[in-house]
Amino acid sequence: MSEKFKAIVLNQSGDKFSREVQTIDKSFLKDGDILVKIEYSDLNFKDAMILKNGGKLIKEYPRIPGIDFSGTVEESNVSDFKKGDQIIVNGSRVGELYHGGYSQYARVKKEFIIKKPEKITTKQAMMLGTGGFTAVLCAFAVKAREDLLLGEKVNEVLVTGSTGGVGSIAVMALSKLGCKVSAVTGKMSHSEYLKELGAENIIDRKELEAEPKLLDKGKWDGVVDTVGGNILANAISQTKHSGIVAACGNASGNKLNTSVIPFILRGVKLWGVDSVAISKKRKEFIWGEMSKLIDFKILEKSIKTVGLSELLKIFPNMLEGKLSNKILVDVNK
Ligand SMILES: NC(=O)c1ccc[n+]([C@@H]2O[C@H](COP(=O)([O-])OP(=O)(O)OC[C@H]3O[C@@H](n4cnc5c(N)ncnc54)[C@H](OP(=O)(O)O)[C@@H]3O)[C@@H](O)[C@H]2O)c1
Repeated sequence: MSEKFKAIVLNQSGDKFSREVQTIDKSFLKDGDILVKIEYSDLNFKDAMILKNGGKLIKEYPRIPGIDFSGTVEESNVSDFKKGDQIIVNGSRVGELYHGGYSQYARVKKEFIIKKPEKITTKQAMMLGTGGFTAVLCAFAVKAREDLLLGEKVNEVLVTGSTGGVGSIAVMALSKLGCKVSAVTGKMSHSEYLKELGAENIIDRKELEAEPKLLDKGKWDGVVDTVGGNILANAISQTKHSGIVAACGNASGNKLNTSVIPFILRGVKLWGVDSVAISKKRKEFIWGEMSKLIDFKILEKSIKTVGLSELLKIFPNMLEGKLSNKILVDVNK
């Protein structure tokens, strides 16, 4: 390893918050079992909040942000990993409590790392990142209805925030799993793209923004919701008997104005999904399924690759809902 490398460093002194690409020394990296030469990271909503002002998630400065990364082991003090292993890191509060992926090197604990499945590349892993990982967690949560109902098929599913990082992968994964996907979007101009991902119907977000009824016509066997608020409340009241609503996001807000009626009259299940505190075993399972569920050729069309300096210029667009590409970060660009 060269002694010096590039990373985005966040700092706070009093009210003054700063973010810049710095050349730093490897002594900057704190203790961990494994030194990784990073190849790729990505941009998630959480990353954008952290880059803006720490997002109340960073407790100690200076901090290298970036909640996901992929790369190659350079040095290892543990027998589970050896030099040359290709790895993926997501969740475990890397980029928040620990230095993260917007850097050419990271030092991490062995518990945070999984070996990259052979059938995907380090680049493909970060084309998905936490967003894609969460989407597939949600897709399996929705499909769990089939086990609960002893094989009754999950057919009609709804995905909200469908052009987003989580939503778009949920559309693709659920369609690959054999579901008929209806995609809710505020960007009707992206309908063709959503159809290419596998959506059969496109629903204008406005249709789900009104005050929810106590119980609406049951339409969905399952829902993946990334936005919260009235859209989630409407999705719950439109869910069929025993349907599972996997809620993972709050892109439209934290409030949820619903009632007990869909839960007690229809047995609807609201299934919260968290991608951060996930066992290594489940991470290995989800990443191992990606090659079966994702068509990377289609996904590639929506990817924009940036280096660390360009990332600092474009991240605010994500917070303003103005990004129509998934951002892949090539830390060596
Ligand atoms: N639980 C977890 O572990 C976990 C993991 C990853 C992400 N998340 C959360 O999941 C959510 C989505 O993340 P992401 O990375 O997909 O973000 P993203 O790429 O910014 O996508 C969010 C999408 O939501 C829709 N949207 C945005 N503002 C909205 C509004 N005011 N009302 C209704 N819809 C709106 C937009 O899609 P359309 O224009 O197509 O409607 C947008 O593309 C975020 O809240 C994020 O924090 C949670």
